[in-house]
Amino acid sequence: MKAVVIQNGADRQFVAVADLPEPTLAAPDDVLIRVLSVGLDGTDREIVRDRYGVLPDGAERMVIGHELFGVVERAGEAAGFSPGELVTALVRRPCGSDSCVPCGSGQQDYCVSGAYTERGIRGADGFLCEYVVEKARYVVPVPEACASYGVLVEPQSIVEKVWNEIGHIQKRVRWEPKTALVTGSGPLGILAAVTCRSLGLETHVWSMSGRASANADLVRRCGAHYHDAVDRKPADAGSSGRPNDPSGSGLDEYAAVHRIEPDVIWECSGHPPLAFESMKLLRPNGVLAILGVTSGNGRAEIPIAALNQEIVLKNKCIVGSVNASRADFETGIRRLQEIERQFPGLLAGIVTDRLAMEQVPDLDFSAIAVKAVVDVAARA
Ligand code: BGC
Ligand code: ZN
Repeated sequence: MKAVVIQNGADRQFVAVADLPEPTLAAPDDVLIRVLSVGLDGTDREIVRDRYGVLPDGAERMVIGHELFGVVERAGEAAGFSPGELVTALVRRPCGSDSCVPCGSGQQDYCVSGAYTERGIRGADGFLCEYVVEKARYVVPVPEACASYGVLVEPQSIVEKVWNEIGHIQKRVRWEPKTALVTGSGPLGILAAVTCRSLGLETHVWSMSGRASANADLVRRCGAHYHDAVDRKPADAGSSGRPNDPSGSGLDEYAAVHRIEPDVIWECSGHPPLAFESMKLLRPNGVLAILGVTSGNGRAEIPIAALNQEIVLKNKCIVGSVNASRADFETGIRRLQEIERQFPGLLAGIVTDRLAMEQVPDLDFSAIAVKAVVDVAARA
């Protein structure tokens, strides 16, 4: 079968289309899935461009892709799936260490040993190929009604994990959030924003995508306010004092002028200064959730005394969040259905670029409008 892999080359990893043996059912709880499409995200960009992927021990190559949408082809007798069912799958697998309490209790998204694997990212083959075999406990059924946006269930699960965590944290107080701020308007930022709108929050998105971008359109379509990072006046420039210098984003000054006072902030840009600059914008008892991740070794000067005061004297909370559980996938499916009901067609509009597997090795990620999805097979 055809697969997109990263492979060890002479001096660096490279991406290629390879011919691999088709996987087969080996146990009664196995599910054989015919892959329909696979979404690409920032992690895939890092894998393809910056060799972020970790090959399985001793392997020469690894199938990439972790945002699966497929259909059950065959299932073992104990799997509880039938041919024709639409499915997606969890990404992370437990580390297997006896001393890792979260992995031992099915919470591998909170793995403490660091030895977890993630399909298509770290130490395990991913889904960007024609057929996948997966244990039933990692396979999540997707209702027929979600077929046109089923490929978004995995990224939505990341949003749901955060919202669920915020719910737990905020049990500490009677909390009635009104306003959300999302930094970044990539696919994850858009899903966070539309989720906040669906929850009835006044939602602001601060982004560098540009006012005329497809990203900004999607943000506005769900009734969120799009704020362009390049709109801030030179006098409003960030701590660097240089206009449009992304190192000091200018968000804090801009938000003060426009009275954006969020109860919750979703950092989805992966631009580290934003996480810290935005902290002081939070209302008392607010939560800053950091979802965006950057590789590299950025440094910045931050006013630690002022931040310390903000956090302590106003009960502010910062939470980092990665990956998601089965429950988050299931909540994500329900949320996407609700979003589709409230904003018909918006979800399908997030997928702006459709590709064939052969296009992935030479893909220019910077040319993707909002989100790219690789079509592997047609449904029928
Ligand atoms: C995936 C997560 C994964 C994370 C870190 C994200 O792109 O959606 O499932 O845990 O990357 O590898
Ligand atoms: Zn673990």
